[in-house]
Amino acid sequence: MAKPRPEPDPRAAAVALRTLEGRPDRSGRWLVVDERTGEVATALRARGGEVTSWFRWQGPWGSAHPGPAEGPFDQAVLRLPRSREALAYALERIAAVLVPGGALWLTGCNDEGVKAAGKYLAPWFTDAETLDTKHHARLWWAARTEATARGETADFLEDAPIDLPGGPVALKKAPGVFAGGGLDPASALLLAQLDGITTEVARVLDLGCGIGVLSAGVHQRWPEAQVTALDHDALAIAATRAGLPDLDARESDGGGSLRADDGPYQLIVSNPPLHGTSNDLTVDMIERMVRLAAERLTRNGRLVFVVQRQRPVERLLEATLRNPAVLADDGRFRVYVAQRRP
Ligand SMILES: C[S@@+](CC[C@H](N)C(=O)[O-])C[C@H]1O[C@@H](n2cnc3c(N)ncnc32)[C@H](O)[C@@H]1O
Repeated sequence: MAKPRPEPDPRAAAVALRTLEGRPDRSGRWLVVDERTGEVATALRARGGEVTSWFRWQGPWGSAHPGPAEGPFDQAVLRLPRSREALAYALERIAAVLVPGGALWLTGCNDEGVKAAGKYLAPWFTDAETLDTKHHARLWWAARTEATARGETADFLEDAPIDLPGGPVALKKAPGVFAGGGLDPASALLLAQLDGITTEVARVLDLGCGIGVLSAGVHQRWPEAQVTALDHDALAIAATRAGLPDLDARESDGGGSLRADDGPYQLIVSNPPLHGTSNDLTVDMIERMVRLAAERLTRNGRLVFVVQRQRPVERLLEATLRNPAVLADDGRFRVYVAQRRP
């Protein structure tokens, strides 16, 4: 398993700054994308740049939005996203708000695949060149072409018909979202356990909702329940809102966007990510989820989640919640249930 990187990771900002610092004129309108340390934005502002930041993923660095603010911008700095689909999405959204001939600065680390990133800049950018390499990171530069770019989030949402245990649902998918907008086997295993819950369920929290697969299954099982769906990816939230318009879907780092009067929940469901994005590296997403359950469940409420079966969670569940049990085990994944302590 890859070692989790520090978040925010300063290496890519460092290589971008070496070159940008050497340019005396940094004025004009800059769009700075997913730059989590904030160093590049600060350096640009210090030299007269008018800087607007766009974060697709919510975290301690700022609020997330599915697309950038309205342009036009003269230049853009992009921190390399983690997947090729997310890179293509970011490039096209940036292209839609950059002036023709405007400059793109793309920065990332070697172990993230930044060397190959130059191949993916067309058709929106041309004349790509590497300006600097240092700290196992690289800075690319390229110029905006005249190729047409789509500029609305809705342009990128596609139909995602999915067969759930309770029947088919018509969700929406988006570039770079989990499982390509399909039904992940672990999520399917979790959904198959919902029929076994016979107590009253009026309020449900779907933590790390992606495009809303678990929320849709919960809605099939308890059509009257109020479902709140959280994800740190603003594009996933846009897809969830489009596919499940009656849901309360919000951008959120963990449970960070929950208000004091949200909940308590009879049920929290999750197929949590392996590693969270947070400044607090010591707290992984499973631990954050279990702590959230201890705070936000009703007295007899349940946390139901699915993880790889070799993942050790029993001790954490016993220490924080009560009656932990394995609801299902298919040899790859385990579905756990645990209740709030009185
Ligand atoms: C394994 S996927 C599950 C998605 C969806 N629930 C499903 O079953 O298809 C985990 C989800 O957690 C989200 N996620 C990762 N880190 C997060 C964080 N810090 N806060 C909120 N959501 C996060 C990811 O964007 C992703 O959509």
